[in-house]
Amino acid sequence: MAKQTQAAIPAHVPASLVYDFDIYADSARTGDPQAVHMDLHNKAPDFFFTPRNGGQWIATRYADVQKIMGAPDLFSSSGTYFNPSQKLIKISLPPQDLDPPDHTKYRLLLMKFLAPKMVVQLEGQIRALMTELIDSVVQKDGCEFMAAISVPLPVKTFMTLMGMDISRYREFVKWANGMLASEHWWQRLPSFWRMRRYMKSLVVAREKNPGTDPVSLLLASEVDGKKLTRSQVQDMCNLLFLGGLDTVTNAMTFITKALAEDPEKQRFLRENPDRIPAAVEEFLRRVAFANIPRRVTRDTEFNGIKLRKDDMIISSLAAASNDDRSVEHPEKIDFDRPKSPHVAFNTGPHNCAGATLARLELRIFLEEWLKRIPPFRLAPDFHAEARGGPVMALEHLELSW
Ligand code: HEM
Repeated sequence: MAKQTQAAIPAHVPASLVYDFDIYADSARTGDPQAVHMDLHNKAPDFFFTPRNGGQWIATRYADVQKIMGAPDLFSSSGTYFNPSQKLIKISLPPQDLDPPDHTKYRLLLMKFLAPKMVVQLEGQIRALMTELIDSVVQKDGCEFMAAISVPLPVKTFMTLMGMDISRYREFVKWANGMLASEHWWQRLPSFWRMRRYMKSLVVAREKNPGTDPVSLLLASEVDGKKLTRSQVQDMCNLLFLGGLDTVTNAMTFITKALAEDPEKQRFLRENPDRIPAAVEEFLRRVAFANIPRRVTRDTEFNGIKLRKDDMIISSLAAASNDDRSVEHPEKIDFDRPKSPHVAFNTGPHNCAGATLARLELRIFLEEWLKRIPPFRLAPDFHAEARGGPVMALEHLELSW
């Protein structure tokens, strides 16, 4: 993707804190977005201003991301954007774009079905989905991993969670691909609107025929003594689909690439499957890929730096999770770390509501994949291409075994 044109540097930004970095084009420059973000620790100030994408601050250190996410009154989730042109479309995704106290009320509703004790009940179904996907490739000598495994698994898991008709899965995969694989955000809109239209029909169907599924639970829920409206329920379902889709796809893809490049780690996890949960945590730290926007709510100072109301701050969770001030040799994948201090799921009130489900999907994936697929590697002519932006991603992953 070409670099965005530069905005003027605002008067309150000192020249010493300006560093030219395009969160889209530069993140994708080498095919290894985490390495590019880690390199910011060597090349840029810890907290810097880039004139790209309308002008935005970028936070790269673990301690700073903790501070930003822990102060939603100063750093708001509402009215954020990655590129000024996005201000034209108003998409509501509660509770992600709300601040406390409203945020807390809506998030609690999601936890009715995303809490650990609810999510563990999905284990058998997710394992069956995974087994079926592996069946489709195990007899071959390789696959394009995203099409075969890492796009379908989260889509099917989402449909299972929502109690949806899984026979419509191909349509959902088409929308998922439309939203994931398009270079510019506006190219993603047609798939987004189709998915929205489907969610609307689902909400209407559950209004007529309620059950014990998440849509029915949301429709029966109240905030401040008032029932949620149909459109609020629809918006929350859209967030669930978007939140649990390319995130799990990319986590699986980045982790599988790391394993394809490291036969010794594959061998270790095959021989020690009980270490897979610890491995998932360390992989999540090393391959963290979300960039999280916040809007400054009033003129203030951050680490002695002047910020103006409505300045945009993007926190690089890849840089923060691979910060040499909080983790020794962050570039190394080390399953023996006493703890993997990372912010792959973010921190603070908006930390990922689907983290238990994501961890479950990743654990089941690794258990089943390593049990059935022989030692695998990157296909001989494979050359990694990446995408930058809010969720950094690989475009493809060709494997052979
Ligand atoms: C490895 C996979 C995943 C990663 C890395 C991830 C990452 C994140 C991050 C960084 C946030 C914070 C956004 C912010 O602060 O603005 C978030 C929020 C959220 N995620 Fe995930 N996510 C994953 C999987 C899932 C899944 C499977 C679901 C559910 C289906 C989900 C649902 C949500 C929701 C509802 C929020 C909003 C929480 C709030 O605002 O309180 N995520 N996720």
